[in-house]
Amino acid sequence: MRNNRYESIIDAIGRTPIVKLGNISKGLKATIWAKMEFMNPGGSIKDRIAKYMIEKAELEGKIKPGDTILENSSGNTAMGLAIICRQKGYKLKIVIRNTTSKEKIKMLEVLGVDVVKVDASLPPEHPESYNQYAVNLAKKDPSLYYIDQHNNLDNNESHYMTTGPEIWEQMEGKIDYFIAAVGTGGTLCGAGKYLKEKNSNIKLIGLDPVGSVFYDWFKHKKMITPSHYLVEGMGDEFLIKTAQLEILDDMMKVEDKKAFGWAKKIAFEEGILAGGSSGANIYGAVQLAREIDREANIVTLICDSGYKYFSTIYNDDWLAENNLL
Ligand SMILES: Cc1ncc(COP(=O)(O)O)c(C=O)c1O
Repeated sequence: MRNNRYESIIDAIGRTPIVKLGNISKGLKATIWAKMEFMNPGGSIKDRIAKYMIEKAELEGKIKPGDTILENSSGNTAMGLAIICRQKGYKLKIVIRNTTSKEKIKMLEVLGVDVVKVDASLPPEHPESYNQYAVNLAKKDPSLYYIDQHNNLDNNESHYMTTGPEIWEQMEGKIDYFIAAVGTGGTLCGAGKYLKEKNSNIKLIGLDPVGSVFYDWFKHKKMITPSHYLVEGMGDEFLIKTAQLEILDDMMKVEDKKAFGWAKKIAFEEGILAGGSSGANIYGAVQLAREIDREANIVTLICDSGYKYFSTIYNDDWLAENNLL
């Protein structure tokens, strides 16, 4: 809508601004641009996929209002789904790790979501783990619709249809690199596919937290044993269908400390309060700018808002407890 007036909050999803990070880019030959995805109604990029996956399932006759949708989420997809479910009259059950920030869990509870907290320390193959709980529940209770963002290619398609075209238009096609954290991979692989179709010279760079399996699989076709990390929304313990890593040109690894440190830096230098994966994105973009050492436009995202992490990454006690100060 040109005048920003909508029939419902669902229609207010997407069309986020792109902003030049002038202070972060100082001293670099390349310019870093970030798409402000925290400005979506649920405070993250995942509103886009929530809307798209539900509307696609409706179109395909898989769900109808009154049904219960089930998902496992690090909190942001859950929040996006909660908004759509409130508007459209679905019930929502969310499986979440017990280490997820309190703020995210509280937001879901306020919206009346049935939240199941699972022990984050359980190995991925354990039936009660984050990765298995929802799968098993869906098998046991066929009345639940498991929307499964990790294997549902409508996730990638939502970014192919919205995030990619928006970036292309906002940057007037002047893009050299698109760099982003890989969680499900929907954002980077979906929007990236669109951008590469527009200009095959655009390079796609993925960011993976230390402890996740994607980087070593991409670089060496080696499956590592996953280990614990704290940045939310990135990486995984398994290969998943939506992480179409073959489309990427390169990947970089990011430690928790770097991701959280750079989130603080974005707040200080640009006045943008961002989450940890956005810190990872900007850290990666700056490393890339230093490496290429030439004029270029590097596009990345502020995936979600720092409001969601006051009790964790913006809390020195939590950082100290986790040896991250
Ligand atoms: C905070 C945050 N950053 C990044 C991502 C990664 O996005 P994608 O799943 O599209 O790879 C997510 C996904 O859940 C997220 O919640």
